[in-house]
Amino acid sequence: MPVPILAAQDLTKTYGRGPDRFDALKGVSLEIDRGDSVAIVGKSGSGKSTLMHILALLDTPGGGQVHVDGTDAKTLSGRRLNALRNTMFGFVFQQFFLNPGSSVLENVALPLKIAGVGSRERRTRGMAVLEQLELADKARNKAGNLSGGQKQRVVIARALINSPQVLFADEPTGNLDTATGRIVEDILFDLNSNHGITLITVTHDHDLAARFNRRLYIRDGLLINTGEEHAA
Ligand SMILES: Nc1ncnc2c1ncn2[C@@H]1O[C@H](COP(=O)(O)OP(=O)(O)OP(=O)(O)O)[C@@H](O)[C@H]1O
Ligand SMILES: [Mg+2]
Repeated sequence: MPVPILAAQDLTKTYGRGPDRFDALKGVSLEIDRGDSVAIVGKSGSGKSTLMHILALLDTPGGGQVHVDGTDAKTLSGRRLNALRNTMFGFVFQQFFLNPGSSVLENVALPLKIAGVGSRERRTRGMAVLEQLELADKARNKAGNLSGGQKQRVVIARALINSPQVLFADEPTGNLDTATGRIVEDILFDLNSNHGITLITVTHDHDLAARFNRRLYIRDGLLINTGEEHAA
């Protein structure tokens, strides 16, 4: 059996304390294979984003372990953890987190700037991902002037600039109209099917969830077994 790209054992997460204490995750275990597409599905407040942030090493669990490609995340120092996250993972969130006053190209190449890559290579690689997402003609535009669907494609371009192995998306189409959302979905599934990127997407949209290979259902901080996790 190949080592799963992501494995979680008995994850717990508690927010607040005393009367404000809230158990957002109550013991979640899962394994995700390289190249899979997985939807994390559940109602608002069920713990989807909490789980995804922990899997993506953006947050630490209260208890339990996350293994990335066989490595226990807890054994990594801050610097190695950051390097692992930046080289292996890409992120697409519902809030775009773009710098509206900077150009599209600058926004897309920002992860490379942070990693210390020089301006010429930033430009080359930035233009390559913008071409992939049919946004090359917008490279010099201010990000704030784009349409919602274009902004979301810029976010995907930025997530791809480091050639990630795993793409995490949290309600990637939540802010988009149906037709534009469909285009963004198709881009994500193309990256999974044709570029081998492991896709992990949080959604409460059952139509979107149906397009994934696997669905993990979460309710009140626990995965629930519905008996239909894998596509037929
Ligand atoms: N920083 C925090 N402090 C206190 N409670 C929190 C915090 N973050 C999340 N929670 C609570 O934990 C629970 C799970 O939150 P989470 O964001 O994971 O839900 P979600 O399933 O992503 O919901 P949505 O679909 O609305 O985004 C919610 O009840 C939320 O109020
Ligand atoms: Mg959420």
